[in-house]
This record gives sequence, C-alpha cells and structure tokens, in this order.
Amino acid sequence: MKILIINGPNLNMLGKREKGIYGNMTLEEINQLIAKEFTSSDVNIDYFQSNEEGKLITEIQLSEEAYDGVIINPGAYSHYSIAILDAIRSIAIPVIEVHLSNIHSREEYRRKTVTGEGCLGIVSGFGYYGYIMAVNALINTLINIRGGDKHV
Ligand code: DQA
Repeated sequence: MKILIINGPNLNMLGKREKGIYGNMTLEEINQLIAKEFTSSDVNIDYFQSNEEGKLITEIQLSEEAYDGVIINPGAYSHYSIAILDAIRSIAIPVIEVHLSNIHSREEYRRKTVTGEGCLGIVSGFGYYGYIMAVNALINTLINIRGGDKHV
C-alpha cells in the first residue's frame, strides 16, 4: 500500500510559524514521526511539500499513477482553491484532508474548506497526530475497497 502525504503553502515554516497554533515541530520532524509510526506495517509513505498551487495540482494529478491514496493539507488554499478541488476530484484514489488546527474554531474565513468538498473526510484540530489518524483512516478505507484483505 502506497500513500502520498502532500503539504501546501507555509507548512515548510512549521516549528517557526505561529507556534501557539501549529506547535513546535518542524514538518521534517512530523514526517519522521509518521514514518516511525508505520515502520512495522507494509505501508509505504512518501512526502511532498510545495508553496505553489500549480505544483500541488501536478502532484495530485500524478499521484494516482503511483499511490493508493493521498493525504493533503492544502494550507490556506483549502479555503479558496477551486483548482485544487478540481484536481482532487479528477483522480480516482481516495483523498483525506488534514489540518493541524481546528479550522472551525478560528477566523470565519478558515471555517470553509473548498478542497475538503472533494475529499473522503477531514481531520482537523489534532496537530501532527491528525496525519497519523488520516493514514489509519486511509488504510482502513483501502482495506474495505480491496474487500477485507487485512494484510497491508
Ligand atoms: C492549516 C489551516 C489553514 O487555515 C492555514 O492557512 C494553514 C494551516 C492547518 O493545518 O491548520 O496554513 O491548513
């Protein structure tokens, strides 16, 4: 089982940016924690980050060739990028959206996620652990799609 985790703009600034909201860990540290959590399983996880909308779109489009599912934190693009929503809808593999913060308890303009409309589900408010929750949800979804083959 192959999963791609995509992070969008400003998530490369984790560990420096608004620590009270996003925590102290860098994106690299978060990715290492995720990798550690799933080392003993047969799940292969790759990681991609870009600050650019077009690069995120291309990565989403290409993902279905090499991956079984995608986890994405589109950052601020979540709230207005119809282009990223269209890219998510254009692929046939499941996509789960993650937000470190609880977007529903923040500013009004963060409460709507346009990209989330194309996703299977959304995890929001659990910090780095949200990515681990999303990987588990994706594994469970893929097992169900494959008809109950528990060997991942
Ligand atoms: C975020 C929430 C967005 O509103 C914000 O623009 C981000 C991070 C989150 O992970 O909580 O960049 O996606």
